[in-house]
Amino acid sequence: MKLKARLILTGIILISLVVCYCLVLLILDMDLMTDYVDPRPPQVKSHKLCVVVPYRDRLEELEEFSPHMSKFLNNQNVSHHILIVNQTDSFRFNRASLINVGWNEADRLGCDYMVMNDVDLLPVNPEVPYEFPGVGVIRHITSPEYHPKYHYEKFIGGILMLTLEDYKRLNGMSNKYWGWGLEDDEFYLRIVDSKLNLTRVSGLSTNSTNTFRHIHGPKRKRDYIPKKNDKKQWEIKRKRDKVSGLHNVRYLINSRRLLDFSGTSVTIINVALDCDFNWTPYCKS
Ligand SMILES: *[C@@H]1O[C@H](CO)[C@@H](O)[C@H](O)[C@H]1NC(C)=O
Ligand SMILES: *[C@@H]1O[C@H](CO)[C@@H](O)[C@H](O)[C@H]1NC(C)=O
Ligand SMILES: *[C@@H]1O[C@H](CO)[C@@H](O)[C@H](O)[C@H]1NC(C)=O
Ligand SMILES: *[C@@H]1O[C@H](CO)[C@@H](O)[C@H](O)[C@H]1NC(C)=O
Repeated sequence: MKLKARLILTGIILISLVVCYCLVLLILDMDLMTDYVDPRPPQVKSHKLCVVVPYRDRLEELEEFSPHMSKFLNNQNVSHHILIVNQTDSFRFNRASLINVGWNEADRLGCDYMVMNDVDLLPVNPEVPYEFPGVGVIRHITSPEYHPKYHYEKFIGGILMLTLEDYKRLNGMSNKYWGWGLEDDEFYLRIVDSKLNLTRVSGLSTNSTNTFRHIHGPKRKRDYIPKKNDKKQWEIKRKRDKVSGLHNVRYLINSRRLLDFSGTSVTIINVALDCDFNWTPYCKS
């Protein structure tokens, strides 16, 4: 054989060997990947609930609410923080903006889901579910079937639970609702548009008279703007708000402190909301 031919042959053999070697490595590697078993036990994901309570001047209700809620959640083994978002400015009460602020505080505290819970509404049936609802699921806890007072089909007020992620996806709640009412009806429209799964609590052993307790402090006058006094404002409020929400709520945190109510520690967030007078002149009372 000629030297040239032998060299070519050797070259071909060498190249074949390298290709074979690479194939073997690849197969071994695939094998390793499929056979690999994580020696650690499966992680139990621990969820943390932030109870966001929009608040102003209801101390006697707060004194009753805080220990009750904490005990209720502990009985369900729900790891939680109670956040009282206290509106300190002198504008009309803005429940929705306070909940937007509450979302930001819940995020700081590392909660992965939240429940907006009015301070005067206490769950009393231990079956009322406060565990993690799941991503994409909005759980209406005070469903029309069980709320002591409101039974209309589209009602989502009272107590509503969802993940922080889903609240953000909805851009939170509208900031234009100064004064009592309608902000939850607007939030309902956001949920319907988003096609998230709105689930009403059902199947409890109780009914609207004994699932929740409505507590009534001595001074509980609602900051309600009567329709006859301001028709224009009512028209504004009736409309779907596609501009404002979680991303543009304007506020200043005055302070954060821990308060103790009969052994239950809650976080008070003192917050001054900011009002855009051109947009919502009716924020002044
Ligand atoms: C809460 O945890 C305790 C102790 O681990 C357990 O006995 C109890 O059944 C749990 N309760 C619920 C509602 O999961
Ligand atoms: C809420 O804010 C007001 C006004 O700053 C203050 O007087 C009140 O003590 C605060 N409430 C609580 C529970 O800290
Ligand atoms: C919505 O969520 C609930 C609770 O997780 C579940 O039972 C139900 O099947 C869901 N519905 C849809 C349409 O995804
Ligand atoms: C609700 O349940 C209570 C206790 O079981 C019962 O006494 C009451 O009649 C029920 N009310 C209604 C409206 O069904």
